[in-house]
Amino acid sequence: MALEMFDLSGKVAVVTGGCSGLGVAFSEALAEAGADIVIGDIMVGTPSCDEACATIQKFGTKVLPAKCDVTSPESADNLMATTIKEFGRVDILINSAGLFGENQKVADMDPSNWDKVMAVDLKGTFLCCRAAAKEMIKQNGGRIINIASASSFKALPGMAAYATAKSGILMLTKTLALELVRYNVQVNTLSPGYFITPLNKDFFETEAGKRMVSNWPPRRPGNLDELKGIIIYLSSPASSFITGQNIVIDGGQWL
Ligand SMILES: NC(=O)c1ccc[n+]([C@@H]2O[C@H](COP(=O)([O-])OP(=O)(O)OC[C@H]3O[C@@H](n4cnc5c(N)ncnc54)[C@H](O)[C@@H]3O)[C@@H](O)[C@H]2O)c1
Repeated sequence: MALEMFDLSGKVAVVTGGCSGLGVAFSEALAEAGADIVIGDIMVGTPSCDEACATIQKFGTKVLPAKCDVTSPESADNLMATTIKEFGRVDILINSAGLFGENQKVADMDPSNWDKVMAVDLKGTFLCCRAAAKEMIKQNGGRIINIASASSFKALPGMAAYATAKSGILMLTKTLALELVRYNVQVNTLSPGYFITPLNKDFFETEAGKRMVSNWPPRRPGNLDELKGIIIYLSSPASSFITGQNIVIDGGQWL
């Protein structure tokens, strides 16, 4: 009975940023729990995307790659329209598309760096939330999980654009959760600590990166498999009375 609450059979999940890193792990987890997956990513059509699709397909549910640039309202709306056309509904949205931008202190920051990070990480999350919310209101049900970061609450030099975008996601989540509560749509944020992916692997190979890891209480980054339980939980009936919350998954890196 309790385990049935984690079953996602017959559900349809859209995962932005699903061609790489955390997005692949999220898609694998949801597919393993029974959901069909739509990957919305600018990298659709590249070998990395084909590789991600092959990994997800091994769980036997359907996987549809749909090219999408989350910074464009039309593209975000099209992603949802494609999902509805192919599957008839959208039960789960995971907003994992994101980028880090350049490491620049505020006094030296090129405004174009700020704009680029805000466009993908904050506006992109908003646009996909907006597109999914319209469908979920009609369906009277759904789940949205926005991916923020431990940077939402931990200041680090050079990361103002990223951290500001990610902390903006926390308030977007809470506001949307309040707006959608009566439609049986739960909206939550997942804030991961550091997991090695193409987004940050160069940094962790530097001396500064190695020093950072050795200063963390757990002395290690997260393993992508360690994200899977929480994403299934937040997407499933098991978490039906949780909304507007931020769940940190960092193994104590920032305690
Ligand atoms: N890796 C970490 O340690 C870590 C920690 C905290 C939060 N995060 C967050 O998790 C999310 C995924 O990060 P990751 O490490 O998997 O990065 P990644 O670079 O491996 O993957 C990001 C994906 O987003 C896609 N993307 C980028 N811009 C896009 C756009 N305009 N439209 C559509 N897709 C776009 C990329 O093509 C890529 O597939 C990001 O939001 C990131 O901020 C990552």
